[in-house]
Amino acid sequence: MVNNQSKTVLVTGGAGYIGSELVRILLQDDFRVIVFDNLSFGGESLLSFWGNPAFRFIKGDLRNDDDIKAALTGVDYVCHLAAIVGEPPCKKYPELALQVNWHASVRLYKFCEEAGVQRFVFASTCSNYGKMAVADSLLDETAELNPISLYSETKVNFEKYLLSQENSTITRTILRFSTVYGISPRPRFDLTVNEFTRDAALGKPLLIYGENFWRPYCHVSDLARSVKIAMTADANKVNGEAFNVGDTSENYTKKMLASEIGEIIPSLEVNYHPVVTDPRDYKVNSDKIKKILGFNITKTVPDGIREIASLFRQQVITEPMNARYGNV
Ligand SMILES: NC(=O)c1ccc[n+]([C@@H]2O[C@H](COP(=O)([O-])OP(=O)(O)OC[C@H]3O[C@@H](n4cnc5c(N)ncnc54)[C@H](O)[C@@H]3O)[C@@H](O)[C@H]2O)c1
Repeated sequence: MVNNQSKTVLVTGGAGYIGSELVRILLQDDFRVIVFDNLSFGGESLLSFWGNPAFRFIKGDLRNDDDIKAALTGVDYVCHLAAIVGEPPCKKYPELALQVNWHASVRLYKFCEEAGVQRFVFASTCSNYGKMAVADSLLDETAELNPISLYSETKVNFEKYLLSQENSTITRTILRFSTVYGISPRPRFDLTVNEFTRDAALGKPLLIYGENFWRPYCHVSDLARSVKIAMTADANKVNGEAFNVGDTSENYTKKMLASEIGEIIPSLEVNYHPVVTDPRDYKVNSDKIKKILGFNITKTVPDGIREIASLFRQQVITEPMNARYGNV
């Protein structure tokens, strides 16, 4: 394990949904943190860190080599979260997605080597598994990757690039995140659990496509903590390794999610649509991160549903349907 007190961490995408929660955790643990972000969704998520002497913000674009090179001075660890995130925005802006998620990410890694960065943690996704070949099987890190969208194609390609850097001086780790839920400094309500719960709490009926399709879920605070754990673990446990992040017990179909929401919001009305809009269907085994890094979740999907439901019941979010809570 490494001593964090003297380490400087650059978080790309640190103003985002997961990034802003990661920044909160790192500052709490006495890291020095630099956020590098172009603020595609605004910068309010950073307000509570502003003025903290251990925090620095650099507004920059990953596609601009000068921006990123300047940000890397004195950096020990890089957590690379900046991306065009999810299939809808990648479909809408395919060239941008390729530039950010692939070309700029490869250049970032090269600049990290030049700058003497020691660790590089990459935010990948369980979406890379695409569709289970065998129904109801549990996919671990050795399962074949089957990207079925531009988003996951760019993620798989960058994973392969990282794994191919065998002579690199950097300890590099891939984290395949489950689909995230819960509240962070930049809440998103375009992800299944958060979106369904928001709508249910607002009294809107749910229209669910692909109700029997599986997906793993993980709370944003657990997920952000996994980045810190991977970043500070013994290098020989994490170098050149991919980890699914979540818990094997936290795979749900959309129908199961609706049922969990109905337990907490009994007025819920659900309609199912026979058309499949998103063919992704995967159940994930996340035992490796538990076994090797001692990572355990602290929250489950029902906890997240309660968290989101209370937020809307008490009208803490005044414009729940505002586009800033989404990524398209
Ligand atoms: N949210 C999920 O369910 C989920 C699941 C699996 C993996 N991931 C991965 O986790 C990471 C973070 O996801 P998130 O949900 O926090 O997304 P997010 O969209 O909230 O955050 C991404 C951040 O990256 C920044 N960014 C985008 N393009 C940039 C550029 N060119 N230069 C600088 N900054 C740029 C945005 O401004 C934003 O703050 C992503 O890499 C994503 O692929 C997320």
